[in-house]
Amino acid sequence: MQDVTDLPFMRVINQYGDPDYYFTEYFRVYPHSRLDKHILSSITENDTGRPVVAQLLGNSLPDIRRIVEQLEQYPVAAVDLNCGCPAPKIYKNMAGGGLLTDLGKLDSILGTLRDSVKGTFSVKIRIGFDSFEPFEGAMELIHKHGVDFLTIHARTVKEMYRGEPHYEYIRQAVEMLDIPVYANGNITSAAKAEHVMQQTGAAGVMIGRHAIRNPWIFTQIREHSLGKQLTQPTLADVRLYIRRLYEMSDHWDRERSRINHLKKYVNFIGQSVDPNTRFIKAMRRCHTELDFFNVCDEHLIDNNRADVPFPMEPYEGVVARPNCEDGHVEIIQECRL
Ligand SMILES: Cc1cc2nc3c(=O)[nH]c(=O)nc-3n(C[C@H](O)[C@H](O)[C@H](O)COP(=O)(O)O)c2cc1C
Repeated sequence: MQDVTDLPFMRVINQYGDPDYYFTEYFRVYPHSRLDKHILSSITENDTGRPVVAQLLGNSLPDIRRIVEQLEQYPVAAVDLNCGCPAPKIYKNMAGGGLLTDLGKLDSILGTLRDSVKGTFSVKIRIGFDSFEPFEGAMELIHKHGVDFLTIHARTVKEMYRGEPHYEYIRQAVEMLDIPVYANGNITSAAKAEHVMQQTGAAGVMIGRHAIRNPWIFTQIREHSLGKQLTQPTLADVRLYIRRLYEMSDHWDRERSRINHLKKYVNFIGQSVDPNTRFIKAMRRCHTELDFFNVCDEHLIDNNRADVPFPMEPYEGVVARPNCEDGHVEIIQECRL
C-alpha cells in the first residue's frame, strides 16, 4: 500500500507473523521512470524471510518492458500489474483502475507483460470502473494472456473503499479461471477470511488496511485454519505495536513529520480501540512525541485498560479509508454513531 507498506513496516509485521507474500507499494512506470529507491529497498533489503511481489502501475508498453527487465534482476516473487488504483489523477491517465474503461489497452498491456516477465506474472484488479460491465471481458483477457495468479478487490473503481465488497464476482472468477484467485476487500479478521474463502472458493486472501489495524491477523488466520485458539492481544500490546511503528519511522527528521506519518497507521488501529473514536480524535491533535504517547497511555494503559482484549473486528461504523480525490492518499475517519 502506497506510503504505508514499506520495508520498515514489513519489518514490524515480521515481529507479529508474516503473510505468505508481501506486495510492494506500486512502482510508477512512464517514459524515463526509474525504480523508486525506497520501494526497491523492500525487495533488495527484505529480511523478513518471506517473498516480495513487485507491483507496477503504468501503461507505456516500452517502459513496462524496460522496467520489468530491471526488476527481474532483483529477487522478486512475481511482477504484478495494478489495475485498480482509484485515484483520479491515475485513472484519468488510463492507468490503475482506468484500464477497466479500455479493455483494448488492458489487452495490450497484459500481452506486453506476459512477453516480458520471465517469472511469475500476476494482476491485482477491481471488478469494474463505474459498473460491473467490464468484469467478464477483463477475466477473458486474464485467461488469454496466461496470468499466473489474480487478486480481486471486489469493488468497482468508483466505489473506492466504500460499502461491502461484491464477493460474488470473486466466485465467478474462480469458476471462469484455472489459476489461483485471491480475495481482497474488507478481510477484517480470521473468521471473515475463512467465510470469504468458503463463499468464493478463493485460494487465499489479500489483506490491506486490517493488517495495519491488527498486525496479529496473519498469525490468527493460521491459528484459525488449524483449529487453534487465536492469539488475543491486549491494549498494552497495541501500545507496544504503536511504539514499534514510531521507532521504525526514524527516517523522518522532524518530530512533527514523524508523528504525522505515524498517524496514518494509528487511524486504522484506532478503529478497534474505542467505539466513539475518542482515541483517534485525541491522537490527531498531537504534534509531539510526548503528547502522542501520553494519549496512547491514557487510552491503552491507564485506568486498568492495559489488560483489555484488543477486539478482532473494528467497531461498528468506524471506518478508515484513504481519500483519493486529489490523487494523494490520506486517511479519513467516518463515524456513523
Ligand atoms: C493507504 C492505502 C494505499 C494503497 N495502495 C495500494 C497500492 O499501492 N497498490 C494496490 O494494489 N492497492 C493499494 N491499496 C488498496 C489495497 O491494496 C486494497 O485493495 C484495499 O484497501 C481493499 O482491501 P482492504 O479492505 O484489505 O484494505 C491501498 C490501500 C490503502 C488504504
